[in-house]
Amino acid sequence: MPATGNSATSLPSTRIAARCRRMGTEAAFRVFARAKTLEAAGRDIIHLEMGEPDFPTPSFIRAACEAALAAGHTGYAPAAGLPALRTAVASYVARTRGIHVEPAQVVITPGAKAVIFFTYMALLEPGDEVIVPDPGFPIFESMADALGAVRVPWHPGSGTQTRPDLDRLDSLMGPKTKLLVLNSPGNPTGIVYTLPEIARIAELCVKHDVLVLSDEIYSRILFGGTHHSIAAQPGMAERTVLLDGFSKSWSMTGWRLGYAVAPLDIAAAFEKLMTNSASCAVHFVQHAALAALAGPADEVERMVAAFTLRRDALVDGLAALPGVRCDRPAGSFFAFADIRETGFDARSLADRLLEEAGVACVEGPAFGAGGAGHIRFSFAADVARIRAATVRMGALLRS
Ligand SMILES: Cc1ncc(COP(=O)(O)O)c(C=O)c1O
Repeated sequence: MPATGNSATSLPSTRIAARCRRMGTEAAFRVFARAKTLEAAGRDIIHLEMGEPDFPTPSFIRAACEAALAAGHTGYAPAAGLPALRTAVASYVARTRGIHVEPAQVVITPGAKAVIFFTYMALLEPGDEVIVPDPGFPIFESMADALGAVRVPWHPGSGTQTRPDLDRLDSLMGPKTKLLVLNSPGNPTGIVYTLPEIARIAELCVKHDVLVLSDEIYSRILFGGTHHSIAAQPGMAERTVLLDGFSKSWSMTGWRLGYAVAPLDIAAAFEKLMTNSASCAVHFVQHAALAALAGPADEVERMVAAFTLRRDALVDGLAALPGVRCDRPAGSFFAFADIRETGFDARSLADRLLEEAGVACVEGPAFGAGGAGHIRFSFAADVARIRAATVRMGALLRS
């Protein structure tokens, strides 16, 4: 019988290369799979686990994709992306970040996640130190482990009550520090850095000669306030890889399209990585992305307005539960609830919420040790479902 996924554990793991054995994964996908199994068995599950807007992709973007297919844009595209899209991204990033960007600095990738992989591949030698947000998006940690880099965890701050400790960041930077990963607005805590915070972080990077991967995938999902890119700070253009994409702002997670804006030598390395991996991002999807950038901003604004109502419903609902505290996130679409006073540990509460209450969410330690005692809820469901989720949680916590 051929081996199935389920019997894989009985196979000798030593035939898998060490780098792949060291690689982690994303708990949200595990929870999602279990939630789907429960749904298939007839259970009603409220999905608050995935970092995925639940809105349809705007119709003008879908129409542009259909037109691109009809026009026959189904072959390979250049490895670094369609020249027209690289130009459009360059001017979008220049306009939204207040920086100068050459199209040659832009590399179009199959999803923004690839930019994390490429940045690490291009910049990190085994033993180099990379400072990663902890709690943070799991891939920052996982890919560092895979490549034999030494990850140095740094708490990115969690919102109104806990700002990032920049003196601590200064103390973590040393001669072996090659890269700092920044993520604002941040997953999972929803933190958004202020301009003075960004300016100070930039000063530290220049002082310690550290490169930055600035993950700005949630730059459009802001609840008031302004997004500040570290790339706009003095001395940072030449040391910043800016990551962004179409997944979150235009509700295009399944289309798999992201991009990097990087100094020319790093962009050239990324182009090589594209050639060696995916060859190119999907050709007709790149035409849809052109439409997204050229199209009206009101779809994005409508989505953010809906997220604001959902955020408030979720945070207010969570705050009313016994033993639960939750900062109001300033950006992204995640609430990172502190559940330490419930007496549960995060994994067992998240498991019980799914299995007993039908609320899918992700335990904080899945985002690093700094996430202990927390649970991440994404507000990718309508307000009525979010309210129902907090009612179900209340019933479980009071039982
Ligand atoms: C912080 C962060 N960076 C990058 C990504 C990846 O985005 P994409 O779906 O475009 O690969 C995600 C997705 O969840 C994310 O949360």
